[in-house]
Amino acid sequence: MELNIEEAERLKRLPPYLFAEIDRKKKKKILEGKDIIDLGVGDPDLPTPKDVIEELYRYAQDPKTHHYPMGRGVIELREAITRWYKRRFDVNLDIDSEILPLIGSKEGIAHLPLAFLNQEDIALVPDPAYPAYRSGVILAGGRLHYMPLLEQNDFLPDLNQVDIQVAKEAKIMFINYPNNPTAATANEDFYKEVVDFAKEYNIIVCHDAAYSELSFDGYKPPSFLQVDGARDVGVEFHSLSKTFNMTGWRIGFVCGNKEVIKALSKVKENIDSGVFEAIQYAGVRALESNDEHLETLINIYKERRDILVDGLNSLGWKVSKPKATFYVWVPVPPGYTSMELSDTLLEKIDVVTTPGIGFGENGEGYIRMALTVPKERLEEVLIRIKRFHE
Ligand SMILES: Cc1ncc(COP(=O)(O)O)c(C=O)c1O
Repeated sequence: MELNIEEAERLKRLPPYLFAEIDRKKKKKILEGKDIIDLGVGDPDLPTPKDVIEELYRYAQDPKTHHYPMGRGVIELREAITRWYKRRFDVNLDIDSEILPLIGSKEGIAHLPLAFLNQEDIALVPDPAYPAYRSGVILAGGRLHYMPLLEQNDFLPDLNQVDIQVAKEAKIMFINYPNNPTAATANEDFYKEVVDFAKEYNIIVCHDAAYSELSFDGYKPPSFLQVDGARDVGVEFHSLSKTFNMTGWRIGFVCGNKEVIKALSKVKENIDSGVFEAIQYAGVRALESNDEHLETLINIYKERRDILVDGLNSLGWKVSKPKATFYVWVPVPPGYTSMELSDTLLEKIDVVTTPGIGFGENGEGYIRMALTVPKERLEEVLIRIKRFHE
């Protein structure tokens, strides 16, 4: 007899996967041999730096790295993180209590709500947003309260608009700058406001800084932890994925408030056993690399950004140039929903984009294009859009 398998309520509460139809059409077109240009995924097309790969190879041959990693990561990685933080943000971190390596920042982001939310506890989550905040809260049994990110507020949440009762009940809050999907940035004044708000209402702040290193035109995004009092209320997530083209390696880290780090470690001790140590050592090499790698990477994305944004604007679209991230947040021309525009671009010109609605209700009215294809392909996208216009 077959089992009558039923998913747990928490899985049923996860929002439907909105991109299923686009995925299906994309696969069908690929099977038909169509020349698809995929601007849908935030996964760099460029390789991991060679010296980082060599370091992995070297350490993977040492049997000492073949065991369960456990603990809070190898000391060499935590030392490299403290040096990197000091160099980059002039922030001092305690090696033993304020840093925790993660199996990619997504893992830590998704697990953190388990450490703090009881059933129906409120989490403040931006809308639109990277979907892992929402899923993590739902899987932990928490309740979502969305903070709209609107263009008129430069895609920053308006904390004065959060209902006082909701703020009093909220336990954690996610923020993310430079932002996915809007590509917006935040300054220290905004982070100060967040710290004051978090202190007033006793809320743990989780700042996701996965794109902190991908910025243009001389702009350097600040760290949330640079602001006075930030460490009393929160933590900051970082990732090696985008900075060093290491999405497949699964390595990131979280740092800041000791109590938050301790509670998240407790969750993780019971679920995973950490990052393969050879990858941690390769991560040291990445964090210690000279500025050359990043400068080259940024120049590549900058050139792509300029080609795509200038090109779209010359075709009459109204697109702002992002100061950071490898995303372009494109307002949808009148007459389309975000889903309809994405669908049309795929159907008519074989270009994959992400409809804003997939990131939350306030993502409606936009589509996201990722700069993760060579510039020649972006030029081809523009040719196809021009042809479509005609
Ligand atoms: C805003 C944001 N945070 C976190 C992540 C996860 O990165 P990783 O788990 O590779 O460190 C992503 C990946 O796309 C992201 O866009």
